[in-house]
Amino acid sequence: MASTIEELGKKLLEKDAFKQVLGQGEAKKQLCSALLTGRHVLILGNPGIGKTTLAKNIAELLPDMNSKGKKIKGIHRFVRVQGSPDLTVEDLLGDIDPIKALKFGPLSKEAFTHGKIFKADQGILFFDELNRCPEKLQNALLQVLQEGYATIGSYDVDFPTNFIFIATMNPEDSSTEKISDVLLDRFDVVYMDYPESLEIEKEIVENNGKELVAVDDKLLTLMIHFVRVLREDKRIEKKPSVRASLGLYERSQGNALLAGRKNVNFKDVKDAVLSVLAHRIQLRPSAKYAMSPSDIIQETFNDFLRSEGKEYKEEGDVP
Ligand SMILES: Nc1ncnc2c1ncn2[C@@H]1O[C@H](COP(=O)(O)OP(=O)(O)O)[C@@H](O)[C@H]1O
Ligand SMILES: [Mg+2]
Repeated sequence: MASTIEELGKKLLEKDAFKQVLGQGEAKKQLCSALLTGRHVLILGNPGIGKTTLAKNIAELLPDMNSKGKKIKGIHRFVRVQGSPDLTVEDLLGDIDPIKALKFGPLSKEAFTHGKIFKADQGILFFDELNRCPEKLQNALLQVLQEGYATIGSYDVDFPTNFIFIATMNPEDSSTEKISDVLLDRFDVVYMDYPESLEIEKEIVENNGKELVAVDDKLLTLMIHFVRVLREDKRIEKKPSVRASLGLYERSQGNALLAGRKNVNFKDVKDAVLSVLAHRIQLRPSAKYAMSPSDIIQETFNDFLRSEGKEYKEEGDVP
């Protein structure tokens, strides 16, 4: 791993190594410093703010690896594991194949089916929503990280520990397991938040969203600004992410296409708002009794237009 880390280090020291992620300067800095020193990282942040994009970006910076005369690109050593309550130790680490065990003997190497973790050798193990996986799996993982082996069935298996371990967790996800303190102690935490400015978020949406018809800059500003206003609303507990901004951008284009137009107008945006946003937000308990997510979105949109969108008074107005 030393060479992989060293080579990665050189790339990390280049100016703006994480090109695919816009903004997030502080998170990038913390991440670079953790990676340069070969430490495991836990990225803490709400869904849809670029955590996966950032981790994949690291994989692309990894040097090619030679294995049995074949070149393996960094991105192919990026192993993504989705944390969930049904994820088992066997999924991650491996299992004993009963048929092969009969053929080769229960303690033979051939009887062991390798789990996902082996593919991350000299690469990245990206563990999404680590806090969603059962405690048993957390413990097995801890043993692998600490000792480089784990016990599966009746025998000890050696595991590669020469990978970069990046996990994510949504801090507001309370429905799940806690990450045990001993496991948490293996990580440094990098915090990520929603895009820092309207300008950055506009750029993210323009770079990543589908472009089917023309979207006027003013209308794009209006969409993103509206999403950002919702994020500030104290009554909203679960906030709309960058995926919501992307959704609004694409769906308003869909509405324009349906109407046979080549450019998005205000009504297209208005007609997309509920379908894109209502299910993505969740209200605080104190607000829930008084109104629904749709009510809040409708009300906020109207208020927002009164203060920010004076030029869009008439339905269907083209800017
Ligand atoms: N800072 C950012 N830079 C570039 N793209 C971003 C950024 N934040 C969000 N995105 C975009 O938003 C979408 C969701 O990002 P993703 O990395 O999957 O989020 P997460 O893993 O945090 O849920 C992707 O299309 C991604 O390109
Ligand atoms: Mg993700």
